[in-house]
Amino acid sequence: MKENKEWQQLMDFDGRRESFPAFSGRAMQWHEQVTSTNDLGIAWLRDQLNPPPDGAVIIANVQTRGRGRFGRSWYAPPGSALLFTYLLRPPAKYLARAGMLGALAVCEALEALGAHDLTVKWPNDVHLGGRKICGVLPEACWQADHLLGVALGIGINVRVHFVDPALAVRAASLEPALKRAVDRNELLAAVLERLDHWRARLQDPALFSAWRARLNVFGRAVTVDMSGSVLSGTAEAVEETGALLLRLEDGKLERVVAGDLSFV
Ligand code: BTN
Repeated sequence: MKENKEWQQLMDFDGRRESFPAFSGRAMQWHEQVTSTNDLGIAWLRDQLNPPPDGAVIIANVQTRGRGRFGRSWYAPPGSALLFTYLLRPPAKYLARAGMLGALAVCEALEALGAHDLTVKWPNDVHLGGRKICGVLPEACWQADHLLGVALGIGINVRVHFVDPALAVRAASLEPALKRAVDRNELLAAVLERLDHWRARLQDPALFSAWRARLNVFGRAVTVDMSGSVLSGTAEAVEETGALLLRLEDGKLERVVAGDLSFV
């Protein structure tokens, strides 16, 4: 089966590693099945005896308890997606940039592979042609008030067959968009290349500007659900902290630090 062969190659360190410069010399863990790659990432960040180098990655073919934002679950059938966690240690001041980094790197990598119309729905959902193709889940790992690092979880739909029609109109997958087969090794290498690029520039205002330029929310009527309380308005701007500025119906400007945004 094509997917098995591809996965075998993914897990075959010695056989194919050197074909992808982005893999060479990198600390990488491949797993057939895990609970969540972010679980393993957080455990690794906490491992004081064998701490992960910046840019280390954990990849899995299947997650049994993959998670999304706001405690949602995130499931992809075996072989259908690229699921991984990238570890980084940003200065605490730039913590909010981790999510920007993830979304931006995926947009640029997908473009490098030939995809078009890559945008970001605030704060870090990647959309292709207005449909979600990738979710990004940055989870900070603290020890008391010391930031150990961030487990930046990324799930990209490669060949997901969406059975639910409601989902099919909102979600996208890479292979149908490119009209060709995509090797997940190639995709992972492309995303890692962009993650490394921007991780080295985390403090550079260019990262914020590039993320902002990708946002597809400005001037649009939206609702933002903040764990129960919902605001409605027009997305007007974003701050360097990543906060969204929402013009409410009564004319007030509201600053939203985190929330689940939907287009009205
Ligand atoms: C979202 O809700 O949009 C974020 C989804 C993030 C999913 C990825 S898959 C790899 C990593 N491990 C997880 O458990 N979640 C992230």
